[in-house]
Amino acid sequence: MARDLESVLDAVLDGVVLLDANGVVESLNSEACRILEISTEAAVGRPVEDLFGEDQAIAMLSRSVIAKGRAIVEREHPVARHRGEDLILDVSASPLFEGTDLDGVTLFLRDCTIEKSLRDIVNQRETLASFGHIAAGIAHEIKNPLGGIRGAAEILGARASDEKSRSAAELIVREVDRIALLVDDFMVFTPGEGLRVAPVNIHRVLDGVLALTAHDKIGAEVEVERVFDPSIPDLLADADRLSQVFLNLIRNALQAMEGVGGKLAITTRMVFDHHLLPPNGQPGPSLIVELADTGPGIEAAVLDEVSTPFFTTRAEGTGLGLAVARHWIARHEGMLQLESTPGVGTTVRVGLPLSRP
Ligand SMILES: Nc1ncnc2c1ncn2[C@@H]1O[C@H](COP(=O)(O)OP(=O)(O)O)[C@@H](O)[C@H]1O
Ligand SMILES: [Mg+2]
Repeated sequence: MARDLESVLDAVLDGVVLLDANGVVESLNSEACRILEISTEAAVGRPVEDLFGEDQAIAMLSRSVIAKGRAIVEREHPVARHRGEDLILDVSASPLFEGTDLDGVTLFLRDCTIEKSLRDIVNQRETLASFGHIAAGIAHEIKNPLGGIRGAAEILGARASDEKSRSAAELIVREVDRIALLVDDFMVFTPGEGLRVAPVNIHRVLDGVLALTAHDKIGAEVEVERVFDPSIPDLLADADRLSQVFLNLIRNALQAMEGVGGKLAITTRMVFDHHLLPPNGQPGPSLIVELADTGPGIEAAVLDEVSTPFFTTRAEGTGLGLAVARHWIARHEGMLQLESTPGVGTTVRVGLPLSRP
């Protein structure tokens, strides 16, 4: 029994595109249409370049398969899309031969966006859980002796007969207080601190934070643009914790543009092709808050490190802002992604599930 090849290809979970030896599209299955946001009619008969927008990397890959006659695989290729969410694709392109002559190319496009974001979320949670253990250890081993050190330094200061000893004792007290504050900040990672969950209007949270930062002098040269989707429903969340998260993120953006000025665009929207899965495994809609600044950006080499507690490039920084933000977002079963182009700016994307069990 001969099956219709087209219906078989449509049942395949990967996007499949068939090109002829000139790189012209012969056919594509429905998953390829979905990924590339194109219809069969619009694609067939067109050169492979027309399937892609600005990023021609996959088209170039197909051309090089035609030129060299060898298969090429590329993992985790990011694809920007016009209508849907941006995707991450595993791409493989292999030559088709008719006898010894190259007759065309098959292009396989596997959407691994959800897989990758789930892996990222799991990694983030494991990292944060390990911070929790460290925090609990620090509380015990550092916080307790600090009180004793401070008390002893105060006694020494009070009894000191010369100015130099007095100021040395004051220095100890000051530094101990600074360490105690840091330890307190780090305590948020200890497991078990509960969330006080209630219906929260995300725009009220963001506007509250903006009202706060309006008093900071660092924000003075920055133009803030709010692109809020008013149809977003309340989410069940801890409003205080979310305020802390967005205060940390907005302060970072403003500090990045300190002295030079720039623009901070805050966008909210809902997504339905859920990249977040709540613990019950039932996919649902989620809320995305994007904070895009026009600051100096973050070098690729340090992008993975900026969320580590105590990583800072600022003289008065504590290096806890992003780590704490990630912690509370994870506690809300959400995710936080950083994207940055040095010289252009940084975008922080926060995703929070809208329906909770
Ligand atoms: N929007 C941003 N633009 C550029 N760099 C940033 C931005 N947000 C964070 N960073 C970098 O990440 C580092 C860590 O940030 P954070 O955890 O908030 O700690 P801190 O602000 O105390 O340094 C910052 O020192 C800075 O180098
Ligand atoms: Mg910060």
